[in-house]
Amino acid sequence: MKFRGARAGAQGGERARLAMEGALTARDRVGVQDFVLLESFTSEASFIENLRKRFRESLIYTYIGSVLVSVNPYRELEIYSRQHMERYRGINFYEVSPHIYAVSDNSYRSMRSEGKDQCILISGESGAGKTEASKKILQYYAVTCPSSTRVESVRDRLLQSNPVLEAFGNAKTLRNDNSSRFGKYMDVQFDFRGAPVGGHILNYLLEKSRVVHQNHGERNFHIFYQVLEGGDNELLQRLGLERNAQSYQYLVKGHCAKVSSINDKNEWKTVHRALSVIDFSSSDIEELLSVVANPLHLGNPAVPGPEDGNATVTHDVPCVSQLLGVPGPTLKEALIHRKIIAKGEELISPLNVEQAAYARDALAKAIYGRTFSWLVNKINESLHHKDSTYSENYRPNIIGLLDIYGFEVFQNNSFEQFCINYCNEKLQQLFIELTLKSEQEEYESEGIAWEPVLYFNNKIICDLVEEKHKGVISILDEECLRPGDATDLTFLEKLEETVGSHPHFMTHKLADQKTRKTLGREEFRLLHYAGEVNYNVTGFLDKNNDLLFRNLKEAMCESGNRIVRQCFEPAGREDKRRRETAATQFKNSLAKLMEILMSKDPSYIRCIKPNDAKQAGRFDEVLIRHQVKYLGLMENLRVRRAGFAYRRRFEIFLQRYKTLCPQTWPNWKGQPGEGVATLVQHLGYKPEDYKLGRTKIFIRFPKTLFATEDAFQLRKNTIATTIQAEWRGYHQRQKYQKLRSSAITIQSWWRGEMGRQVATRRKNAAEKIRRFIKGFIHRQRPRCPDNEYFVDYVRCAFLMKLKRNLPKNVLDKSWPVPPPALSEASELLRELHMRNMVQIYCRRISAEWKQQLEQKVVASTLFKDKKDNYPQSVPKLFVNSRIMTNEINSKVLQIIESDSIKYAVAVTKYDRNGYRARPRQLLITPSSAFLVEEAKVKQTIDYTNLRGISVSSLSDGLFVLHVPCEDNRQKGDLVLRSDHVIETLTKLAIASDKVDSVNINQGSIKFTIKQGKEGIIDCTWGSELIISKAKNGHLSVVAPRLNSR
Ligand SMILES: Nc1ncnc2c1ncn2[C@@H]1O[C@H](COP(=O)(O)OP(=O)(O)O)[C@@H](O)[C@H]1O
Ligand SMILES: [Mg+2]
Repeated sequence: MKFRGARAGAQGGERARLAMEGALTARDRVGVQDFVLLESFTSEASFIENLRKRFRESLIYTYIGSVLVSVNPYRELEIYSRQHMERYRGINFYEVSPHIYAVSDNSYRSMRSEGKDQCILISGESGAGKTEASKKILQYYAVTCPSSTRVESVRDRLLQSNPVLEAFGNAKTLRNDNSSRFGKYMDVQFDFRGAPVGGHILNYLLEKSRVVHQNHGERNFHIFYQVLEGGDNELLQRLGLERNAQSYQYLVKGHCAKVSSINDKNEWKTVHRALSVIDFSSSDIEELLSVVANPLHLGNPAVPGPEDGNATVTHDVPCVSQLLGVPGPTLKEALIHRKIIAKGEELISPLNVEQAAYARDALAKAIYGRTFSWLVNKINESLHHKDSTYSENYRPNIIGLLDIYGFEVFQNNSFEQFCINYCNEKLQQLFIELTLKSEQEEYESEGIAWEPVLYFNNKIICDLVEEKHKGVISILDEECLRPGDATDLTFLEKLEETVGSHPHFMTHKLADQKTRKTLGREEFRLLHYAGEVNYNVTGFLDKNNDLLFRNLKEAMCESGNRIVRQCFEPAGREDKRRRETAATQFKNSLAKLMEILMSKDPSYIRCIKPNDAKQAGRFDEVLIRHQVKYLGLMENLRVRRAGFAYRRRFEIFLQRYKTLCPQTWPNWKGQPGEGVATLVQHLGYKPEDYKLGRTKIFIRFPKTLFATEDAFQLRKNTIATTIQAEWRGYHQRQKYQKLRSSAITIQSWWRGEMGRQVATRRKNAAEKIRRFIKGFIHRQRPRCPDNEYFVDYVRCAFLMKLKRNLPKNVLDKSWPVPPPALSEASELLRELHMRNMVQIYCRRISAEWKQQLEQKVVASTLFKDKKDNYPQSVPKLFVNSRIMTNEINSKVLQIIESDSIKYAVAVTKYDRNGYRARPRQLLITPSSAFLVEEAKVKQTIDYTNLRGISVSSLSDGLFVLHVPCEDNRQKGDLVLRSDHVIETLTKLAIASDKVDSVNINQGSIKFTIKQGKEGIIDCTWGSELIISKAKNGHLSVVAPRLNSR
């Protein structure tokens, strides 16, 4: 969690909430993501166990509130990709697992939203991953911040300043192959859009001594090796160098010029490229390298030979003088002499061998150190935010990154370690001030009873080091500056005198028996907040003096090399004021740094190194416990958990959990504080589990919150279901409404369409009816526009009706009545149709039927409307013969050939005289008719002799065949009766061709009985057929009336 004093308390609480919730979502994963959630938060073992668990799973980041603890994995992890950056961008702390990007993003967003400058303090011991962390943060900003072409160039410079600074300021040490040997504070400036627009770097205390000396297993600064390995031949020639690090004493003190993990050649390429990005011209580079090459030459004396105790210069002065642009003799002179000003007089005294070596080393260190500062300035120029579009007064927002050396404890600790550890003391002080104190202040401001947490405030140690007149630094300065023979040991004595009673100070002399064993005589011990460190006073004075003999300085001022001249100018001869000692300079710069940091909202990244062997996956518990301790992590955690593990503003707490209580759901009308009180009461919080402050609720144990959160998660489901249901309902209603309105649209369209169609139809119909009526009115006129429709319609209707009702056969005489206009056509059609039917009919008639019809026609012409029983004969077909051949006596057949018999019928013959009825057969042949009685042919009537045939008009079957009777041989007329009189007479008339000779008589028929004697047949109507001889001698025929003609 982030603490920013009372002022920023509310915001700190907000972050705490975020962090806590992050842990809530993640507590089921490996270990806990936030140490705050450790049940046994006071146990260092469980703290380390949690670190171990997570480290084993490559989870290198864990929070303590909003402090990020990072364990160096010593291998590349797949967690720094662009996707990862995107995932952490703009997201709340708690939503994702702990990550350096989360911290970066949080700072960035705080800066953007609150307009307050931020700083990220990265601490940890050498090799713990501080520099890597700062690079990751820069990369994160470079990728995720808004960009433009101009911004891109700034971004490149910010990123590229790193390799350059690392080449000049980093070196391989025992702990880290790329150890930063200077402290770095870098401001990244952002404009109002949040785009990086510039930067500024402050550097702290470069470890210059490394230029002339390295411990075993360590190297000089990378740049020397890089130039020797990577520089091209011409460059080396110009610099007078050989491509072999072994040739240079300053480079091989640690006996490891070559390191497998470092590729100096490639690094050089990178550095060279980076230099050009940050505005170094090739002449700048050339000049810079000329300066850098110097120490190499300087370091290579063929040991200053003793010459009457005084030193001589045997090394390559011409080369150095050329590179530095200092006249050879001047330089040579300066290297082996010392100029002292005493009582206004300049005294020059020769140096002995030791002094000369010291002077030389001092020169090498001074040149390198000052060049490094020059380099930082030059980079700053390149990073300077120089946009003319902003007004003079425009001040960009800043995120500062502090990557400074961590606490160092070696076997032998010197002035550098003293400074470094002092620096860490100060940072811890800052951390305590800002974190622990603000925590306490928050409780106070909330009116919560504070149960004091015992934490160690290291101010006492800071004071021990830095207090005016009484502090270690003051004493050291005093020793350095006082006239007389001050030595490191007198300094130690002075210390014992002045601060000997300080509880955090100890020397051999002051210690008890037991402690003495652990302290050297020339050592003093400081009990740092992180642990005890013994400092060896040897070299303290010299290092603090950082002395460069005046004549060497003067020589440098005359340099032809621009960089050297610039480096040595300001502190030149004119500046007669006493120069500040190294420690005071450092103290002052730290004080400035503290001021800078205090003015910003800090975030912390605490780096831990898992083992000394730079090995992946190795978790060295002892080492880690030590770091956990001196980083003050347990203390940090303890305070975080001291009173209450969790706090949150009433409004926010209520907002999140109000669903859990009926009184607060959906809205609490009263004061938020009362709402929270109601809510927690409903939730059954015990009084000791929580406290209500002025604006916040404080919850003591994570488990209380977890239970609430769990309940909330459960409740969320119900609420989600309700919301879902509401939403679905709403959605469906919308859908339904849409469908409905669509349906209505379609319907109305369709109805409209139908309506229009109906209207059109009606209109057409009305139009038709109107035309029809008009036509009807004018129907009598010839076809004209007024009646044409009607007339046409009538015609068409008639023709259609005719088509449907045409007579089907010739007998069907029906025919539709035509309209007057069509009567002629109708008549023609009727004829045509009739003819057509007749034709069809005729085509179908067989020969037999034809014969039948012909006979019928004859019958018709003979009897139609003339004889009563004719109509009855019409429907009966005429048969070929009424008597079969076998019914005719064979004797008769002998006389009459059977083939010639065309028709035979049984008849009744009435005697001419007595009118007796006798059965006979009448056979008709083509030439004659025969009257047969059994086997006898009684009478043959040749047709030539047949004079006529008479019948009555009544329905009787009587007929008379008139034959000639000129002589007596001839019998008279034959009176016969046939049941089929029409058929018989028709056949006979046709066979005898006597159609015209058939007479139909009304009333009576006369016939010849014999020559000269006539008989009469009287025919009358009666009820039944009676044929008998009447009293008057006539043959009386009474026939029933069948038809009335
Ligand atoms: N996050 C990381 N991922 C992978 N390797 C890392 C990480 N942090 C540090 N390292 C490794 O550890 C080495 C030392 O890290 P560095 O940042 O230089 O330490 P410091 O600056 O604290 O001294 C790096 O060179 C790198 O190999
Ligand atoms: Mg570093």
